[in-house]
Amino acid sequence: MPLINWDEKFSVGVASVDHEHRELIGLVNRAHARLTQPDRETAVMEFLGEIFTRISAHFALEEKIMREKNYDHYAEHKADHERLLDSIRDIMDRYEDRKYFSDDEFAQVLKSWFVEHFRTHDARLHRNLG
Ligand SMILES: [Fe+2]
Repeated sequence: MPLINWDEKFSVGVASVDHEHRELIGLVNRAHARLTQPDRETAVMEFLGEIFTRISAHFALEEKIMREKNYDHYAEHKADHERLLDSIRDIMDRYEDRKYFSDDEFAQVLKSWFVEHFRTHDARLHRNLG
């Protein structure tokens, strides 16, 4: 079962942004499916590293667009991106220290951040760019 399902409420109305968000969700789901394999030790760090890299790249693209448009809520929006990256870094550090990783907890962190960020920051960004 996928960790996160695409929902139209995630849509910010910009095809390229929605496409990136769909890709991110697809990546999370595919990477998560690999965690059910037996070699979990290696899989967890690869999974988290891959998610971190891809999400960072997505944020960098969005932040570039905001800078180009002199977007008025750039700082707040970027700060919310940093908040998720910090959470993922914390989860990676904790895994390295204690080899503790909870799929459910990670799913909750991502899902609640996605829903809230897409609905607020990304939706506002779209309204202002549109
Ligand atoms: Fe964003």
